[in-house]
Amino acid sequence: MMRTTERLILREFTEDDCPAVLAYQNDFHYLRFYPWDERTEQDVRTFIQVFIDQQYQKPRFRYQFAMVLKGTDQLIGNCGIRRGGPDSSEADIGYEVAATHWGHGYASEAAHEMLTFGFEELHLNRIWATCIVENTASARVLEKIGMQLELQLKEHEWMKGRMWDAMVYGMFKDEWFTKQ
Ligand SMILES: CC(C)(COP(=O)(O)OP(=O)(O)OC[C@H]1O[C@@H](n2cnc3c(N)ncnc32)[C@H](O)[C@@H]1OP(=O)(O)O)[C@@H](O)C(=O)NCCC(=O)NCCS
Repeated sequence: MMRTTERLILREFTEDDCPAVLAYQNDFHYLRFYPWDERTEQDVRTFIQVFIDQQYQKPRFRYQFAMVLKGTDQLIGNCGIRRGGPDSSEADIGYEVAATHWGHGYASEAAHEMLTFGFEELHLNRIWATCIVENTASARVLEKIGMQLELQLKEHEWMKGRMWDAMVYGMFKDEWFTKQ
């Protein structure tokens, strides 16, 4: 499975992607909103293996794509859409981009493609995403692709020694097709 956008190739992960993922995940800016303080090669191998295993689901209900700049082999992040199970009519999306490539619209481009895939090919009824309140860049991505803030969750996630509030954004199929 592979998807393309104006500037990106979204392709399946392979074990060979470990060095590129390790390089961008071991960055202070990236690590700010994750529970991890650092990433080892083994951490990243395990992380990628989860996505490789998803490729063999039958029927497949979780997709996580390596984000590669078109015309290059450069992996700059990943994005995904994940249903809870094969029969679920809703899924969540996620994305991350190497800090060296922030601010160029790549996360928004990839996340928009996840909505296209989810509504137009997986025929989902609702797509949602969460981000912690302080992660303003991520919230902005969700707003830019047209998702609505549905609720705020107080003290939703424990990481880095404290609880963090989170926001849930969502979009329904009717909203997607009305906007197209
Ligand atoms: C969140 C993340 C994926 C955004 O990636 P990106 O490719 O830079 O995103 P985009 O360029 O598509 O859009 C980012 C938007 O946030 C804005 N933004 C960036 N930093 C911001 C900040 N500190 N405050 C407010 N807005 C901010 C940008 O200006 C841009 O909006 P604009 O187009 O209206 O100017 C990236 O910061 C990242 O990988 N962070 C670490 C992983 C992560 O948090 N993933 C999401 C988990 S929920």
